[in-house]
Amino acid sequence: MSFRSFLLIPLVVFLLKCAGSAEGRQSGIFLPTELHPDYPGCPAVDSSLYYYPVIGILTHPGDGASGRLSNATGVSYIAASYVKFAEAGGARVIPLIYNEPEETLLKKLELVNGVIFTGGWSKTGSYYETVQKIFKKALEKNDAGNHFPLYGITLGFELLAMIVSEDKNILEKFGSSTKASSLQFIDKANIEGSVFQSFPPDLLKKLTADCLVSQNHKYGLSPEKLQNNEKLAKFFEILTTSIDEEDQVYVSTARARDYPVTAFQWHPQKSAYEWASSSKIPHTEDAVRVTQLVANFLASEARKSTTRPDAQEVRDNLIYNYIPTYGGKAGKGYDQVYIFT
Ligand SMILES: *[C@@H]1O[C@H](CO)[C@@H](O)[C@H](O)[C@H]1NC(C)=O
Repeated sequence: MSFRSFLLIPLVVFLLKCAGSAEGRQSGIFLPTELHPDYPGCPAVDSSLYYYPVIGILTHPGDGASGRLSNATGVSYIAASYVKFAEAGGARVIPLIYNEPEETLLKKLELVNGVIFTGGWSKTGSYYETVQKIFKKALEKNDAGNHFPLYGITLGFELLAMIVSEDKNILEKFGSSTKASSLQFIDKANIEGSVFQSFPPDLLKKLTADCLVSQNHKYGLSPEKLQNNEKLAKFFEILTTSIDEEDQVYVSTARARDYPVTAFQWHPQKSAYEWASSSKIPHTEDAVRVTQLVANFLASEARKSTTRPDAQEVRDNLIYNYIPTYGGKAGKGYDQVYIFT
């Protein structure tokens, strides 16, 4: 070592120490023990939250592939993308099979900390009635002080609109099949506490300018329709709107004013998990960030639930007891589906 570098060592040490002082902290890299001399190890997690959240996903009638996978009567399915989406947020999934005995369904509702109503087409019969029943239960749980989130996605959005308005003809036609769109925010003030609350500013901005979300629906609600319907306006607040192929404006995201209920006319789960070539699903990094953040919010809401079910009972009902089928080999429809017969 030269004499010169020998002299440099104390200088470097001195500079590093300066970097550690209040002014220079941003530029230094420190071990936790250097920052906190009495570093106590990992702090305790917030014990009011539940770190094993489970999301119930309601199955939809059919096999999800127009009879290509199963024609069994009473068959229902869940596109695996919804399962992966819930898992990406840090939750596990229990399938709520729409036509299983009410007693079983109600029992399973006591094992979950939130619910997803998926996309699909069924708006009548026992499927509609089951959605209505679960929705009522979800509101009851919240009213009783159990924070219980609900996501209504596409058909789920439409069913919530029909149920809340008590008008089965409330929906309007929109031309928004298989396209990507932007989201226009109604009011910056209502982002707080909503699904968009933890979106970084750059992504919120891109959502309004880029086409980051997947749309695929023939029906919807115009903002006027929602606002002019007393029941809908009382229950929901519009978060975003989008425009269809004929420049008609529809509500693309809404949330309940007094409940942890979020309704998406778009498909937050698709960008990371669905690959059908004709579906125009955005797969950019930003689109996948949107999927991830929407999934994060559902799990973070579910962690606030006070439901603490028996762990073995949960495991006995998890989606892991079922095997998904690869239905997307022909390049259309859902890539993977869980089929329940
Ligand atoms: C279901 O029925 C349709 C029409 O009869 C038939 O083409 C299809 O192969 C059937 N699917 C299965 C899985 O058996």
